Formats: sequence, C-alpha cells, structure tokens
Amino acid sequence: MTPENLTPASCDLHCDTFPRVSPKKRIAVIPGDGIGKEVIPQAVRVLEAVGADLAFSHFDWGADRYLADKTTVPADGFAMLARDFDAILMGAFGDPRVPSNVHAKEILLGMRFQMDLYANVRPVRLMDASLCPLKGVEPNGVDFVVIRENTEGVYGDLGGVFKQGTPDEIAIQEDINTRKGVERITRYAFEYCAANKKGDGSPRRRALLCDKSNAMTHAGGLWQRVFKEVGGEYPQIEKQHMYVDALCMQMVRDPREFDVIVTNNMFGDIITDLAAGMQGGLGMAASGNLHPGKTSMFEPVHGSAPLIAGKNMANPLGAILTAAMMLSHLGMTARAEKIETAVLEAVRLHKTTADIGGTLGTREAGEWVAKSVAHR
Ligand SMILES: NC(=O)c1ccc[n+]([C@@H]2O[C@H](COP(=O)([O-])OP(=O)(O)OC[C@H]3O[C@@H](n4cnc5c(N)ncnc54)[C@H](O)[C@@H]3O)[C@@H](O)[C@H]2O)c1
Repeated sequence: MTPENLTPASCDLHCDTFPRVSPKKRIAVIPGDGIGKEVIPQAVRVLEAVGADLAFSHFDWGADRYLADKTTVPADGFAMLARDFDAILMGAFGDPRVPSNVHAKEILLGMRFQMDLYANVRPVRLMDASLCPLKGVEPNGVDFVVIRENTEGVYGDLGGVFKQGTPDEIAIQEDINTRKGVERITRYAFEYCAANKKGDGSPRRRALLCDKSNAMTHAGGLWQRVFKEVGGEYPQIEKQHMYVDALCMQMVRDPREFDVIVTNNMFGDIITDLAAGMQGGLGMAASGNLHPGKTSMFEPVHGSAPLIAGKNMANPLGAILTAAMMLSHLGMTARAEKIETAVLEAVRLHKTTADIGGTLGTREAGEWVAKSVAHR
C-alpha cells in the first residue's frame, strides 16, 4: 500500500486530518464511469444544500484511472473505506473502452463481497401516476422494498468451462447458498419489515420469500426452511411465498400486493429492474448495500449508460434519492425526508430530465432539487 494511491483525488478534508471524533459523517464519494460522473455531483450538491453535516472525500476509481495506470482498487482500498468512512456514495461502473469491464467487477463486486455488504436494499415507490407504464396505478399503489442477498448466489464466479470451443463444451456456473448467508438476509428482511413504514405512514406488515424452489430444490429448500424458522421469531409479520416467475407476472398485474420481498442475488437483480420500470425507469431507482454496524455503500440502481454519458441528459433523481437513503441510514431522517419531498415536487412539476417527461438537463434538474431543499 502506498499512501498516494489511497489519497482522495480531491477532498475538502484530507482523510489524515479527520479528528478522531468528528461531528461530521465522513462520506467517500466514488462517481465511477459514464453518467455516474454526472449524477453523483448533483447528489452531493443536494446533500450540501440540505445542510447535512457531512465531510466528503472524492475518489477517482473507475475506467479513466484503470486506463491510466491499470489500478482498479488501490491496495488496501476497501480496508481504508471501512476504517475511515461512515458511508460510501457511489455512481456506476462500465466503459466501452474497457471491454472486459474488469475494473467494474473488481470495484463493485469486490466492494460488495470484501466489505461483506450482504443486504442490497431497493425501495420501489411510485411518486406520480404518470411515471408508471401500468394502467390505473396510483402513487401509493407501488410502495414495496426488495431485499436482495448481495454476496452469494451465482455472482461468486465459481465454476468453469470444459472443452471450450468444441461441440462438447460444458459451462458450469455454481449457485452458492450458505446457511449463514440465507439466514442473515432473511433476518434483515424481517427486521426491515418490523422497523419501517410505507410512504403513506402505514406500517409494513408482510414479508414475501421469492425463489424458484420448485425447480431449484436444494437451494430453494434451504431458503424455505430458513424463512420459516426465522419468520417464527416475527409472529406479527405475515409470511408469503411466490415463485419468481409468478411474482414477475403478479408484479405487472397488481403491484399493490407487495410489501417486503426477500430473495437471492440473481432474482433480486432481475426483479428490481422490472420494479424500476414501474417507478419511472432506471433513472428513478435508489439502492443501498448494507451491513448493519459496518460502513455501507449507496448507489443508484442504473449503470453508466454510455450512450447518454457526457450529454447532460441523465436523470439525477435516482442518485439524489440514493443520497437521501444514505442520510436515513446515518440517522438524519428529517433531512432525508426533505430531499424526498423535493424530488416528489420536482416530479409533479415536471422539473426533470426528458426520460420522465421534463425538459431539464442533469445539472438543471439537480439544481432545482438543491434550491428546493435549501428553502424548506
Ligand atoms: N451498478 C453498476 O455500476 C451497473 C449497473 C448496471 C449496469 N452497469 C454497466 O453499465 C453499462 C451500461 O449498462 P446497461 O446499458 O445495461 O444499463 P444502464 O442502466 O446503464 O442503461 C440502461 C438504459 O437505461 C437508461 N438509463 C440508465 N440510467 C439512466 C438515467 N439516470 N437517466 C436516464 N436514462 C438512464 C440508459 O440510457 C439505457 O437506455 C455496462 O457497462 C454495464 O455493465 C453498471
């Protein structure tokens, strides 16, 4: 490890100068690639405008850095983030100049795995009926949360290819499901359900296990047993189960049915993009990658969108809602609510980018929300 490769690209407070007990929460900002570099500055601008007591340090991890010096994650980088920061605000990774996307994999999956950020929390809330492609769905009709297991499943890259390039080629992709991993994400989902309210203030009441245990019997059996056992500790919460295929159909037919969904890494990845389509598209979707008690990471759901990158077209609201989620996690709930209210107003007044019906650019949409929160 060299000190210079851990130094933030630019920061208003150098890491080494943080007092031992800082009143400010320390935020590592990693915009990444493509539109990540456009939307994350808008999220930071809104955090500054809302008066949150935060100290930002900016890091240049991403394709540019990788192409310049082959660094994906600086040595000891994840340990430094865990040690020196209260939370991480991240953009997106993926760049056509790096066809293998090796940097994206090492930064994003590396962070989730090595920092053990096992709970991927994705709230799905429709802010305005006009954003939903489904007929007759009112804003409160879509308000659920997907809790996705984030460290196991098929994303561990275990497996191999045999006889590659021949007609007899065999590709094996292992699906890892540990008792510990399934139990902790299931418990997280029940705890989340018990502790959180919906946007209209009503309590969350139902936890639903989404799996494919009819076909994937071994892994599915483990999830089923654990869900039943852990669920027994939460008698006040209604338990439900759906196969992932049926759930996709039901989500389109009647999204009102859902409250808290817990699922594995791959199904969570897929159903949350489907869900994002119901709240106005990828530009509106926020997420957190959490491990209670440890430094957690917050990122908009979307990728780096190379085709619109650099054009001031990207919707910053997903990143701004992600920043609000980070504030809630850090205990600054009043400020988080201010941001959510301002975003809601921006959507209603069409002070947004074109993907959700407005005429503003990325910077102008961010500026509108920043001004709005500053006046609240
Ligand atoms: N978490 C991440 O870093 C992450 C997630 C998904 C994809 N990726 C990477 O991003 C790159 C592009 O992937 P993709 O095209 O499949 O997904 P993407 O999310 O980047 O884009 C999908 C579609 O949604 C649109 N879109 C996404 N975000 C938007 C926003 N904020 N405002 C307006 N429109 C938006 C894009 O223009 C595109 O049409 C790839 O390299 C992929 O690997 C990274």
